[in-house]
Amino acid sequence: MAENREFDVIIWGASGFTGRLVAEYYLKQYGVTGELRWAMAGRNEEKLKQVRAELGNTEIPILTANSHDEASLDVLVQKTKVICTTVGPYALYGNELVAACVKHSTDYVDLAGETQWIRRMIDQHYDAAQASGARIVHCCGFDSIPSDLGVYFIQKHAMAEKGEYAQHVKMRLKSAKGGLSGGTYASMNNVMAEAAEDKEIYKILFNPYSLNPRDAMGGSDKGDLKSVQFDADADNVIMPFIMAAINTRVVRRSHALEGFPYGEDFMYDEAMMTGKGIAGRLKGFVGLAGLAAMMAGKPDGFYKRTVNRFFPEQGEGPSKEEREAGFWKFLVVAKMRDGSLIKARVSGDRDPGYGSTSKMLGESAACLALDKAKTPETSGVLTPSTAMGDVLLERLQANAGLKFEMA
Ligand SMILES: NC(=O)c1ccc[n+]([C@@H]2O[C@H](COP(=O)([O-])OP(=O)(O)OC[C@H]3O[C@@H](n4cnc5c(N)ncnc54)[C@H](OP(=O)(O)O)[C@@H]3O)[C@@H](O)[C@H]2O)c1
Repeated sequence: MAENREFDVIIWGASGFTGRLVAEYYLKQYGVTGELRWAMAGRNEEKLKQVRAELGNTEIPILTANSHDEASLDVLVQKTKVICTTVGPYALYGNELVAACVKHSTDYVDLAGETQWIRRMIDQHYDAAQASGARIVHCCGFDSIPSDLGVYFIQKHAMAEKGEYAQHVKMRLKSAKGGLSGGTYASMNNVMAEAAEDKEIYKILFNPYSLNPRDAMGGSDKGDLKSVQFDADADNVIMPFIMAAINTRVVRRSHALEGFPYGEDFMYDEAMMTGKGIAGRLKGFVGLAGLAAMMAGKPDGFYKRTVNRFFPEQGEGPSKEEREAGFWKFLVVAKMRDGSLIKARVSGDRDPGYGSTSKMLGESAACLALDKAKTPETSGVLTPSTAMGDVLLERLQANAGLKFEMA
């Protein structure tokens, strides 16, 4: 069984932009011969050796397999308690890996933000993963850990302070500094390409409850914000937040998997704060126009090909200096049934998408591997909060530069 495996964690995709950052983090945080036994894996041994040399440690074990070679994945996943994968777009490279993990009772974490693919994984593997004991946990990066654990955190405080859970939680991105990698941009484009091919995918993308269990796909939330408006509870102008499309679905799935503890009428939404008054509105409209420009165009059309030139290639992303100068801050507002508010702050050092995300993903994998006795007794296709709850909250604050605090 998974208890007697050679490694605790295998980083799958360690030659890619984000996988390499996870390896760098593990080397610094856990060393090679410490409590966490980990290895780097990918499809190209030479590339992995080069990454290892650049990290300055030739002792890190290296393993090879291929995303589409099931036999190689069967061998790989049986060597470890947890697979930590940054091989994306996940809809193109993730199917066989998830299936192998479910089959061999190997826990799994990823950075997928591809709602349509996660829906497929839930439908195909939830029951089998429950039976095998595998914990399949998508969205263990900037999307959607701050949202999922932010709600978990503020609701615990609501219960402790007010004796009941909040009926409505609002997550507001206050400020952030960072960039985009080629892999993330490719994943976003792949979602749009799949949706252009299959209109059913639009329905999944626009359904606020698209990741809930099939028999619980309804509720009071109508959809993500599409306009610029004033939010009195956050005392700020707000505009749409691109990550809301995945984060809100993850939060709602967590709530459903827990059996709707906040009430069947619980509401959740996300937005970006742009400031106050005319300046805040202006910033909101400019941001909205930027978002529309990024998402517009047919996947292979002239416009999209022109826009693509302004984004990084796969394997590229923000520089070390940009990652280290980065940060992110959310305001969380919880509205109680009597109309009163409680507020919290969730923040992280480093840029959200890579510097901070690589630490969140690495700690999620370490948590599944090392803290099994302390995490909830559950399996299936889960979310960060339902798989790891308080234990992950502690790890992220102790090791990964995250803060969860009441305002
Ligand atoms: N949710 C978040 O917060 C967040 C943040 C960051 C990234 N992400 C996601 O993470 C994923 C990776 O992004 P990235 O920028 O790190 O991408 P990347 O630099 O392009 O890396 C992709 C990795 O996949 C590997 N790969 C490709 N095809 C393979 C195959 N057939 N078999 C085995 N490995 C294969 C590549 O190997 P080679 O080196 O051999 O080509 C590389 O290691 C994307 O889906 C992105 O959306 C999400």
